[in-house]
Amino acid sequence: MRVPVRSSLMEIEDYKPGESVKGAIKLSSNENPLGPSPKVVKEIVKSIEEGELNLSVYPWERNEEELRDEISRYVGVGASIGKENIVIGAGVDGVLDTLVKIFIEIGDEALIPIPTFSLYESLVKIAGGMPGYVKRKSGEFGIPLDELIPACNEKTKMIFISSPNNPTGNCIPEAEMRAIIESVPKVMVVIDEAYVEFADSSLVNLVKEYENVLVLRTFSKAFGLAGLRVGYAVIPEWLASAYKKVSIPFSVNSIAIKAAIVALRDKEHLRKSVKLVRHERELLLENLQRFLKVYPSQANFVLVDVSPRKSYEAYEELMKNGLIVRDCASFRGAGDSFIRITVGTREQNELVVETLKQISS
Ligand SMILES: Cc1ncc(COP(=O)(O)O)c(C=O)c1O
Repeated sequence: MRVPVRSSLMEIEDYKPGESVKGAIKLSSNENPLGPSPKVVKEIVKSIEEGELNLSVYPWERNEEELRDEISRYVGVGASIGKENIVIGAGVDGVLDTLVKIFIEIGDEALIPIPTFSLYESLVKIAGGMPGYVKRKSGEFGIPLDELIPACNEKTKMIFISSPNNPTGNCIPEAEMRAIIESVPKVMVVIDEAYVEFADSSLVNLVKEYENVLVLRTFSKAFGLAGLRVGYAVIPEWLASAYKKVSIPFSVNSIAIKAAIVALRDKEHLRKSVKLVRHERELLLENLQRFLKVYPSQANFVLVDVSPRKSYEAYEELMKNGLIVRDCASFRGAGDSFIRITVGTREQNELVVETLKQISS
């Protein structure tokens, strides 16, 4: 006989990752077109072969400490952010999982401006909490503060703000973020900066000033290490002990720790990846906007409105041409005419433009 699973799981949809099809060009998961730093690959292989990285032992605490130290310098907000302000996890996904377990009890609420990354709502529901949704403004996708702030009540424990936001690509201005943080001192404001390396600015300095804000970052995007699953959060120091209690021990493996350290030290590869993406992003936007509605982006993807066609039609046509993009219909509140395209190499982007031009005419 089957043992019944929690009834609340009925309401949770499966996470839908960007699709992969063998031989097709994958522009659906916002990965790095250059891949990881070659130094990372070389160092990992060398460290394993020479026995410095011993896969039969658990990851060492001092290696994790070295990574947290390296991250605190990379984050670069001065001496007041040190390794005690950094926690790591198996991607931002893993860090989010721990954070939700820390703050959400059954019946608690969390606010989510939508459309956005769907994992926030899934994790809140899994924890027995209730997500509350605030629709971003149409047109420019800003957050309506006059709706978000009054929506907080004594049950609200977290607010999730992706900046740059997936899938819309826009950032929240610092003044607006300060207004939110200051209005809700008993709510943890989570700023997800998974795409920040491609943006003009970061909000990480706010962690120094407020006790109710933290910033998430990842090695999956600009550093090209999505397959290794490493992410981190810059947190106020008081939160570190709760994080340590709740997070799964050794959730970041020793190869991932080593890779992240080497990736942070290879500044040239990071610079090259960011430069390529920013340049190609603007070119892609310029070419697409000649015949479609596109939105400015601070991330490594662009949002395209394919109206009057439906997003699934454009998705299928692109797929027939060997291009996989993201049909945004699966994002709560996104409607059915948006697709999200990861910025690829020049050749890949040109193929996207050509194909979209053909199906739009
Ligand atoms: C806004 C946002 N946060 C987090 C993630 C996941 O990051 P990670 O690979 O570090 O788990 C994604 C992935 O697409 C994302 O779009």
